[in-house]
Amino acid sequence: MTKYRIFTAYSNSGISSIQRLLKLSLYPIRFIKIYTKEARNVLDVGCGEGLLGNLICEISDAKLTGIDTDDKKISIANKSRVSKNANFEKRNFFELTDLHKYDFIIINDFMHHHTFENQRKILQKLSKEIHPNAKILIKEVGKLNSVDHLLTRYADRILYPNDTLNFRSSKGWIEVFSEFGFLLIAELKVKSIWPACRNIYVVKLG
Ligand SMILES: C[S@@+](CC[C@H](N)C(=O)[O-])C[C@H]1O[C@@H](n2cnc3c(N)ncnc32)[C@H](O)[C@@H]1O
Repeated sequence: MTKYRIFTAYSNSGISSIQRLLKLSLYPIRFIKIYTKEARNVLDVGCGEGLLGNLICEISDAKLTGIDTDDKKISIANKSRVSKNANFEKRNFFELTDLHKYDFIIINDFMHHHTFENQRKILQKLSKEIHPNAKILIKEVGKLNSVDHLLTRYADRILYPNDTLNFRSSKGWIEVFSEFGFLLIAELKVKSIWPACRNIYVVKLG
């Protein structure tokens, strides 16, 4: 029902029904609920049109900040807002100076759109600037020729033709998290009928 409310909130957003269905089916909302229950400030990095951010406002009382560098997406996110707790801003992750104020940070389908060097810069910035008790949820796809990986790469090439895509294996992600001092506290694969980007890692500073 909650997902249905978000699905309809975006009826006139220009995002097709199929895209909305696909995106919403890949958010493990019951799992996210566990982490947002205690959270006061949640950050969604590279929030796109804000579907996940809006969904979080439906299941928690936390204040949600979604940031993205894309003007048009931020405008759609704000027009489709379902709660006064949601706020979407045009900001660049690399320029954020207030990471310490968030107790839960979501990085959904974001990392593989950055070069390997920038992926490391993202993790370095997080490791230095987040609150020591903050938790980070990262959704990625494992490499190693899985159907999930092949389909994500195919879809991303069409949807984001200007991005260079840089995937790691699941083991590779866990290794690079650990290199920057992050402990893996949970890992799961979203159940979905669509093969897609759906490996979830929750990490915190060790
Ligand atoms: C693949 S999309 C994921 C969108 C969203 N998380 C979702 O699941 O619908 C990646 C998003 O990251 C945004 N982005 C890329 N680099 C960014 C940066 N440095 N700071 C903030 N947003 C960025 C892009 O504009 C794009 O909307």
